[in-house]
Amino acid sequence: STTIYFSRHGQSIYNTKELIGGDSLLSAKGKKYAEGLRKFFQESQEKFDDLQKYCSTLKRTQQTIGYLSEVGAGEPIIRPEIDEINAGICDSMTYEQIEEKFPEEFKLRKKDKLNYRYPEGESYIDLKARLKPFLEEIEESQTPVLVISHQATLRCAYDHMKGLKTEEIPYIQVPLHSLVKFERSIFGYRETIYKYD
Ligand code: G3H
Repeated sequence: STTIYFSRHGQSIYNTKELIGGDSLLSAKGKKYAEGLRKFFQESQEKFDDLQKYCSTLKRTQQTIGYLSEVGAGEPIIRPEIDEINAGICDSMTYEQIEEKFPEEFKLRKKDKLNYRYPEGESYIDLKARLKPFLEEIEESQTPVLVISHQATLRCAYDHMKGLKTEEIPYIQVPLHSLVKFERSIFGYRETIYKYD
């Protein structure tokens, strides 16, 4: 598409407890953000009747996009390729708990966050490969696109859109409650960031 919007889900219950992964619902703040997103699209000068919405299989993205039922073209499309990085044995823990329970793993990840693969889970390199076909697909889409996904997946998406250095991927800033718009021009994509709070 010539216009692609990306956002993380609204703040989840897990986010408030600093737990990674899992499949929790939105916090009160997260719901407010989802309402803000709806207003953004409804109150824009642009028409979004043909906006195609995508979310992951996880509840927090589906709940976020659920607030946009009156925006765009029909039901959101649920895509497992845009699920959060699989943290394997470390899923549903805080970083402190990981350091305490799996100190070796914690060290290894710190040393090489890009290539480190969680036991029974994924690395950023795995994630980049998982996302590539989806990102190429939405770039070819004939309609504007909105993707509600996750922190690690959106790092890979921004790398894809902006052509950054692969080593930078795990450190790209993807704050909660921000919407990023990429518009294609002859010079490549133009990026606009809308911060909600
Ligand atoms: O819950 C997982 C996080 O979004 C991934 O963040 O790769 O910086 O640990 P991280």
